[in-house]
Amino acid sequence: MLNKLNMPEKMENADIRIMKVVPDMCDDLFEAIESSREFLRQYLFWVDGVKNPADEAASIRMFLENWDKGDSFIYAVYEKNSGRLAGTIDAHAINRNDHVAYIGYWLRKDQTGHGFISKALAPLEKILFDQGIHRIVIMCEVSNLPSAAVAERNHYVFEGIAKERIWSYGEFHDAKIYAKLASAL
Ligand SMILES: CC(C)(COP(=O)(O)OP(=O)(O)OC[C@H]1O[C@@H](n2cnc3c(N)ncnc32)[C@H](O)[C@@H]1OP(=O)(O)O)[C@@H](O)C(=O)NCCC(=O)NCCS
Repeated sequence: MLNKLNMPEKMENADIRIMKVVPDMCDDLFEAIESSREFLRQYLFWVDGVKNPADEAASIRMFLENWDKGDSFIYAVYEKNSGRLAGTIDAHAINRNDHVAYIGYWLRKDQTGHGFISKALAPLEKILFDQGIHRIVIMCEVSNLPSAAVAERNHYVFEGIAKERIWSYGEFHDAKIYAKLASAL
């Protein structure tokens, strides 16, 4: 079995900086969610549960527990020049037996169209592969064309549609499965 991952708290490249989500980020994260609530809730089941900063603070406490357990690692994504919070990116559902991780992400609506998630994906993928993850998965509802475009733009291979794989808003939804394998790099 793969060792518990030891993820850095901060990574950056020319355009973006990603930093482990910590309690100090609560107000900025809540404001970002608030600014884009209708946009985000279409595909993110948790949005309705974040009604105020205290809800976000509770989420962050859970993120930190999961980080310590090695179950998931969530980073805030900042545009480097402005220092503005654009959204988050995470590695979750880490299966150390099979060396698999899933990637999730969201952006403020007004921060889409600049490649921020694509730019944040590169250092996150590199550290996951460096630490022994073999298979990175992006899964999105079939109707989520912008998320599928993230996977395709970043050379994930479409593997097929998992029927009724995602439960949200009281219904099961079909999901597109994209993967990038260490053996194919
Ligand atoms: C999914 C989501 C993060 C995609 O955002 P995005 O900005 O399109 O994603 P990227 O970071 O890959 O940026 C790509 C866009 O930036 C543009 N871009 C500009 N510079 C770029 C660069 N250097 N590299 C890549 N793309 C760049 C691309 O042309 C593209 O814009 P377009 O779609 O108008 O052609 C966003 O739609 C979102 O937050 N949706 C709601 C939450 C959600 O669905 N999350 C995923 C659940 S599975």
